[in-house]
Amino acid sequence: MLDIVILAAGKGTRMRSSKPKVLHTLAGKPFVSHVIDRSHEMKADAIKVVIGHGAEQVEQQLAAPGIEFVEQTEQLGTGHAVQQVLPLLHAQATILILYGDVPLIKTKTLEELVAKVSDSSMGLLTIELEDPMGYGRIVRENGEVVAIVEQKDATDEQLNIAEINTGVMAVKGQHLLEWLPALSNDNAQGEYYLTDIIAMARNSGISVQTTQPESEGEVMGVNNRMQQAELERIYQREIAEQLMVEGVTLLDPARFDCRGSLTVGSDCVVDVNCVFEGKVTLGNNVHIGPNCMLKDTTVGDNTQIHANSVLEDSELEASCNIGPYARLRPGSKLAEGAKIGNFVETKKAVIGKGSKVNHLSYVGDAELGEGVNVGAGTITCNYDGVNKHKTSIGDGVFVGSNTALVAPVSMAKGTTIAAGSIVTRNSKENELVVARSRQQNLPGWKRPTKKS
Ligand code: UD1
Ligand code: CA
Repeated sequence: MLDIVILAAGKGTRMRSSKPKVLHTLAGKPFVSHVIDRSHEMKADAIKVVIGHGAEQVEQQLAAPGIEFVEQTEQLGTGHAVQQVLPLLHAQATILILYGDVPLIKTKTLEELVAKVSDSSMGLLTIELEDPMGYGRIVRENGEVVAIVEQKDATDEQLNIAEINTGVMAVKGQHLLEWLPALSNDNAQGEYYLTDIIAMARNSGISVQTTQPESEGEVMGVNNRMQQAELERIYQREIAEQLMVEGVTLLDPARFDCRGSLTVGSDCVVDVNCVFEGKVTLGNNVHIGPNCMLKDTTVGDNTQIHANSVLEDSELEASCNIGPYARLRPGSKLAEGAKIGNFVETKKAVIGKGSKVNHLSYVGDAELGEGVNVGAGTITCNYDGVNKHKTSIGDGVFVGSNTALVAPVSMAKGTTIAAGSIVTRNSKENELVVARSRQQNLPGWKRPTKKS
């Protein structure tokens, strides 16, 4: 049985924010949500989040099945924080203690740590740092861990110890139930230190087994916005490297942001400053130009997305051509070979095979068949001020430039619409639709003259 306790009661004064620290984001997701995701990956039987500062806000934002919240009304130290959940802990369970502001911890690291826990041992995650300043130091005798000493309580000699406490530990519930009530706050900070249980373990004949993370980033906490930015880059670099290993060309991995999940085929190329949000899937040989933003979108093989395009909740089949400066809003579905050019906005629009909307248009609540050509400046007038209506355009329709299609309206297969038309009536197959007044040329026209 595995119970996970996530400490998230701290204020995070140095973030200088009205928002509780653990709700600040990394890759678009609250710090603590990253920790919760890892907890789910660990297949925890229970996840208990200790909240304090901004408790209501934190609980509201994180509430989900399988997550319990325990309030620590006063922050009297990490030991005191774990004491709050003590009544809810199972004696038989392994308790894993995590920090809501240490977002990059890896599941593999936690699995190795939890494996150290038994009735006669506990696990402690430590790391050696070049500069251990501020951290609790790991005190060893004959190689065995005997205590953790906090920076403020340490002797000069102890301050030289490079091995530090990451804060992450795993221990049997029965041991916590025995040790936590015995904590005192008789120390430099007047706090109940969770770290004091290490000396208690030693005194009870429970051995403290240490494990180490693969990298320092995993155990770095966020206290201010500089550290937040630093961790964001570490995270993005990892994702970027993983994608490059999978065969993607990133023109600059330092200018790449994935705030969700990105799945890729082979030989994709992503230019600089692209942002991927939610669930994005790229097929093979997809090229994405600079400054694009893709959210919850699927892109088919051989599709090109040119610079400065924004795509959301859209599905593109193979060989589409998008942008530059295109905006595909939710519900845009493009069949093979469709083209959406510059300054074109689509929304809830089905664009048939090989159909083109090349310039300066709005196509919303519309269904276009195959081989349609939509001229520059075409607008589907889908909104009457109260309700939305649909425009339907059959195969092979030619829409002349600067046409307004006043929905609901339907153009049958092969219709040709004269430029500048305001279309309000349905057409039949292969008709020419002209919906504008005929041009009049008046000879001998006299321009007005300036009055003196
Ligand atoms: C703690 C450890 C230290 C370790 C360091 C790693 C103790 C006594 N010290 O120190 O050995 O090197 O973490 O970063 O444990 N929190 C609560 N309630 C409280 C106090 C803290 O929920 O009453 C939460 C904070 O929100 C934070 C975490 O616990 O997420 C750590 O607290 P913090 O005050 O930062 O501990 P440190 O002094 O850094
Ligand atoms: Ca800290």
